Amino acid sequence: MRITPSILNADFANLEAEVGRISGADAIHVDVMDNHFVPNLTIGLPVVESLRKVTDKMLDIHLMIEDADRWAPAFAEAGAESVTFHVEAAAAPIRLARELRKLGARASMALKPATPIDGFADMLDEVDMVLLMTVEPGFGGQSFLDLVLPKIRRTRKLIGDRPIWLQVDGGVSPSTIERCAEAGADTFVAGSAVFNAPEPDAMVSELRELAVAACQH
Ligand code: DX5
Ligand code: ZN
Repeated sequence: MRITPSILNADFANLEAEVGRISGADAIHVDVMDNHFVPNLTIGLPVVESLRKVTDKMLDIHLMIEDADRWAPAFAEAGAESVTFHVEAAAAPIRLARELRKLGARASMALKPATPIDGFADMLDEVDMVLLMTVEPGFGGQSFLDLVLPKIRRTRKLIGDRPIWLQVDGGVSPSTIERCAEAGADTFVAGSAVFNAPEPDAMVSELRELAVAACQH
């Protein structure tokens, strides 16, 4: 069970210190938005390059951008260990996934809540992670969409015994993480739940414990 906090709700003026508040996290989830694929504009490559200099933690880049084919490889070149592109945005997702792997990064594909996994089942061998959005992408702090739970179950089945991580992103908190874990997710993005907590690192541990416990029954 991996907890990968999103820094979208962190203090952007103090990112190095903010990353230090989640020392127990398995990776740092970085939400890159271009105001075209989603109606919000956040951070880009220069910030990822700067983060790379101040942390050894895995950088888990979530690209919510239209021209993923053009931009994703640069994030791998900047030292990100995992790069996620949206299947709705990539023009040539197989070529892109292969390019990312060739650059030494984990390749990952993301699906918006209403995008079915079924059409992408044949692509599973090309990726190291599947990210299922559990809110419409664009903003932190939205409510978890329960309607994605059947897709989490279906995706877990399709993955079978491949070593592919199944990540959920959006509205993940102590009150929703158990449902996701029971459905088959093993990697959890949490933004507002972690960074609005008085002690972010304690929240990371709490979320991990809840996810582990939910899988044991
Ligand atoms: C939303 C982003 C998420 C977001 C999660 O488009 O992809 O990573 O920051 O934030 P919370 O956990 O607050 O929903
Ligand atoms: Zn994200």
